[in-house]
Amino acid sequence: MENSSDFKNDFKKAIERFLETAGPGCKSAERVAILRAYESQKPAGERICYDPYAIHFVSPGILEWAACNPDKAMALQEMSDRLFPGLDNFVITRVRYFDDFVTRSIDAGLEQLIILGAGYDSRAYRIEELKKITTFEVDHPVTQAVKIEKVKSIFGSLQDHVVFVPVNLGAEDLGRRLLERGYKPSKKSLFLMEGLSYFLPPHVVDEILLFIAKNSGKGSSLILDYYPKSVIDGSYELDIVKNIHSLLAQLGEPLQFGIEDGTVEAFLAQRGFSQIQNATSEDFKKAYFHGVNKDRAVINLLSIVHAAI
Ligand SMILES: C[S@@+](CC[C@H](N)C(=O)[O-])C[C@H]1O[C@@H](n2cnc3c(N)ncnc32)[C@H](O)[C@@H]1O
Repeated sequence: MENSSDFKNDFKKAIERFLETAGPGCKSAERVAILRAYESQKPAGERICYDPYAIHFVSPGILEWAACNPDKAMALQEMSDRLFPGLDNFVITRVRYFDDFVTRSIDAGLEQLIILGAGYDSRAYRIEELKKITTFEVDHPVTQAVKIEKVKSIFGSLQDHVVFVPVNLGAEDLGRRLLERGYKPSKKSLFLMEGLSYFLPPHVVDEILLFIAKNSGKGSSLILDYYPKSVIDGSYELDIVKNIHSLLAQLGEPLQFGIEDGTVEAFLAQRGFSQIQNATSEDFKKAYFHGVNKDRAVINLLSIVHAAI
């Protein structure tokens, strides 16, 4: 087997190439779009999630490289699975889990969807029932500008049911920007924070949760994924944790927020939330990983929690 430091060096170089080829928006958002696109190419009975638009959010240079170098693309995915066992599968599962939660919320009378850190999320375009519900897509202005151009090129124009809200969370006032763009605090809303919480400073996560708790209608809810605090502060001394920190440092998106192990219920209850339900890798494996997928590993460091307001 290749020496582990050579191996890590090879991966680091591959990420350097990714950074040179990727678009100007958030790099982790593009990486997630690549994973969704890859999973979506599998036959219907094999894929965990399905996002037919994901491929449009991957930079042409990356698609071209993967098409011309299928063996290298496969080797890169194998490297990723070796350095971060189960992480990419978690990302895929998270898409499916959030999709299922959105669908249940629509069935229960959802009136507004707010996607925080939307990146290249395509739910507002691919979940048919959402076309009758206003979706607010909140993201950093740089990434959102890339998204807007891609949406125009996929659909020919922006879609009436989607409202873009460019906000640099932490530097600008999320609540004010949402209200200016037509967000209605009395409506039954669902807030998504998919792949976002850990990139924000803890006080910014608190400000967001406070806004949601104080400004959403009866029956509203929130869903997010999170790391335990021990991963963020590095006290969890596993190789995979070190590898995640070094990848994100290279992407320029360091981890900042986590929730103390075993305290997610208290954390959200103290901030005004109830009916808190937490899901972990065991739940995901039981729900989604059967048949050809039964041996796919899912990282046990990340969890998904949803709660009512
Ligand atoms: C890992 S990506 C996830 C994107 C999308 N939710 C998904 O799952 O495909 C993180 C997203 O959070 C956004 N983000 C991170 N920090 C932000 C900030 N301070 N303000 C606004 N958006 C931010 C990034 O621009 C990016 O789109």
